[in-house]
Amino acid sequence: MKRKLILAKKIVTVNSSNDVLENYAILINDGKIESINPSAGFNLKNFDGEIADYSDSVIIPGFVQTHIHLCQTLFRGLADDLELLDWLQKRVFPFENAHTKDSLRISAQLGINDLLTGGTTTLLDMGTLRHQEIIFEELISSGIRAFAGNCMIDQNELYPSFCESKEWNLKSTYEWAKAFHGSSNGKVKFGFAPRFVLSCTEGLLKETKEMMKDFAGSVYHTHSSENRKEVETVRVMTGKENVEYFESIGILDDHTVLAHCLHLNDTEIKSLKKNSVRISHCPSSNLKLGSGIANIPRYQDEGISVSLGADGAPCNNSLSIFREMNLAALIQKPIHGSTSMDALKVFRMATIEGAKALHIDKEAGSIETGKRADLVILNLEKTDQPMQIDNDKIYSSIVYSATKENVDAVYVDGELKVEKGKSLLYDEGKLIAEGKKELMNLTVRIN
Ligand code: GUN
Ligand code: FE
Repeated sequence: MKRKLILAKKIVTVNSSNDVLENYAILINDGKIESINPSAGFNLKNFDGEIADYSDSVIIPGFVQTHIHLCQTLFRGLADDLELLDWLQKRVFPFENAHTKDSLRISAQLGINDLLTGGTTTLLDMGTLRHQEIIFEELISSGIRAFAGNCMIDQNELYPSFCESKEWNLKSTYEWAKAFHGSSNGKVKFGFAPRFVLSCTEGLLKETKEMMKDFAGSVYHTHSSENRKEVETVRVMTGKENVEYFESIGILDDHTVLAHCLHLNDTEIKSLKKNSVRISHCPSSNLKLGSGIANIPRYQDEGISVSLGADGAPCNNSLSIFREMNLAALIQKPIHGSTSMDALKVFRMATIEGAKALHIDKEAGSIETGKRADLVILNLEKTDQPMQIDNDKIYSSIVYSATKENVDAVYVDGELKVEKGKSLLYDEGKLIAEGKKELMNLTVRIN
């Protein structure tokens, strides 16, 4: 790949001192950030490579979302106003069970497109039970950075036909992990994804953890303690609270990402801390499904890793990280005070904290020499009201005022994926038309 020079008005680095650089340029070589220096120091006339002039724009690191369901994008708007277990039983399990390879492909494309055009360059996806290779194919052809894995289900009282044997789950997971872990030039890695306690036997949960040892750099990704009825059922099934149960079967460590984590007792919070578990906070999903408000300020005070994820499109009905950042800040303020969950903290959760959660902070999550060039160019002029971009106010503008509309361009690994707010990968009109067609063709059996 040729060298590229990216000129910026401001670079919000998200490095350890949160430097915001003015009139700097990023030199990219083969997808990697080779240097970051004042623009004036570059001899632009004789530069050997491509120059991208964003000298009136703000450049931020690509966002990292640590809990997504690409397979659900097609079902946006079809599972509204329900609480979690009804939402799964009456809508989402029947829909996922009905997926064909074609419908899954379009769902993944719609999701990846929505994420990339919204500035998300890395995701942790919880796949679906069957045809997982389709999601991997789409992640690879898009060039996005991702952890993904088939969602494992070997018991399912809510919707029995959406289930396979433990042996089938383990065998197919192993095969998909062998085929795709480390693919896409190392951008795609495996995320082992037993769905949640209610749909997994203890054997499946434990043997999956064992299997991870063959795949260095992979993560273990599941849902925990999202909904009161869910945790009551876990208590009846296991005699324990959800996180206590996970600890007792040995699946908690620093490569475990737990989505949600709302209903935890003190012992469970200590356990997450002791085991360096990563929490993926999904505020809009937690609100829309009526699950509650996670005590994120408390977790952060304890030193627990918290990053952000939009969850699935039928949870909230948007995959925008801007919405998640905004809500992550706002929902805590009436409870913990207006100084809690400040904009900088939330912006770091959506970038470097996500990269740290996935152990890829040497390559993503901030704009620093030696990292991969995952960059988002924001046009903060495109707004009804002028936005403040002074160094101390820029985080507020991004977290409290900006939306996906402000995303002008997106690079992953130094490759341009979105230009002038439009995808360079997909024809969006066609995607939507194909999505509607595939949805109409699905045979969904609702119990
Ligand atoms: N728990 C188990 N499956 C799911 C899911 O698909 N979405 C959410 N929000 N919670 C879950
Ligand atoms: Fe989820």
